[in-house]
Amino acid sequence: MAPSMTILGIESSCDDTAAAVVRLDGAAKIMSSVVYGQTDLHADFGGVVPEIAARAHAEKLDHCVEDALLEAGVALADLDGIAVTAGPGLIGGVLSGVMCAKGLSAATGLPLIGVNHLAGHALTPRLTDDVPFPYLMLLVSGGHCQFLIVNGPDDFTRLGGTIDDAPGEAFDKTARILGLPQPGGPSVENAAEKGDPKRFQLPKPLLDRPGCDMSFSGLKTAMLRARDAVVAEKGGLRHQDQADLCAGFQAVVTAVLVEKSRRAIEVYLALNPEQPTFAVAGGVAANGAIRRGLQVLCETHDVAFTAPPLALCTDNAAMIAYAGLTRLAVGDVDDLTLSARPRWPLDPTATPMLGSGKKGAKA
Ligand code: KG4
Ligand code: ZN
Repeated sequence: MAPSMTILGIESSCDDTAAAVVRLDGAAKIMSSVVYGQTDLHADFGGVVPEIAARAHAEKLDHCVEDALLEAGVALADLDGIAVTAGPGLIGGVLSGVMCAKGLSAATGLPLIGVNHLAGHALTPRLTDDVPFPYLMLLVSGGHCQFLIVNGPDDFTRLGGTIDDAPGEAFDKTARILGLPQPGGPSVENAAEKGDPKRFQLPKPLLDRPGCDMSFSGLKTAMLRARDAVVAEKGGLRHQDQADLCAGFQAVVTAVLVEKSRRAIEVYLALNPEQPTFAVAGGVAANGAIRRGLQVLCETHDVAFTAPPLALCTDNAAMIAYAGLTRLAVGDVDDLTLSARPRWPLDPTATPMLGSGKKGAKA
């Protein structure tokens, strides 16, 4: 690797406009990481509205890049490259980022690197903890849910993933139908603390089938039915009903993620990795019950458990900059013909995912 390289990263594939500067000087260092969220813009619509997201990205991207450069104390002339999320994601947002990066590249002559958003997430444990290859990764958020063996910077084996919704979507929907505030994950987790997870019989989708694929859309429907049954019986929802429903839901999601992770660990350990490591990332990884379940599972199998800090688990541009650096370091760059890809699986040999939830294409 070159002695020192500094790169700008740009991310706009969903509802976060982000820019970051990362420097590789022996180790990788995040010089700045700026994220402009859009939660307020989408709050009234019960999900991310692609057109609103794209317009907000187009309006905010150049300010966000300016902030990231300023915070890092660097100018465009100090950079060695520009990395941008080129997919997968909501196409309007991805296009905004790619056009911004192309403009900067054309104006400065700096190399352009189109990064796969999922590779950004998947390589984050290297940026934060220098985790050795191959490691097992669970990406679990409002937009993603998949198991990957990360063999190298550009070599991923997908072991399975959701065939419909991501768990974060199910948390958000559960909160909505129970009248709890968004984002649903923290509200459901709080309510679940005082609940009885055994009161409601909820399905554990795809647990009876072999493999690591998951499904969460049926669970959303089951939650709706359970709520309707309580309302029909009691004329409304009490706090205890909300708590019991949340506890039951969270217990099912935890059980499914833990069991599917157990299977993924089995496949991964068969590769005899020298320092077996299981990394989890994404907003849902913030959930205490899920985290504890995965931690215990890893202890049982003698596998190290790691979770990047939340700001680097959720969408950000530092991960895009870092993934770009790994490509730039080996001279693997794109040019101005780079196009945005709404779907872009990390493992081209894996069965394509059909799901496309409220946050866009899964891969
Ligand atoms: O990674 P993220 O910030 O954005 C993307 O989806 O890309 O993840 C957001 C998701 C939301 O669906 C939110 O409800 C969920 O992560 N989440 C949680 C918790 N905190 C956030 N889910 C369960 N428990 C939590 N404590
Ligand atoms: Zn993401």
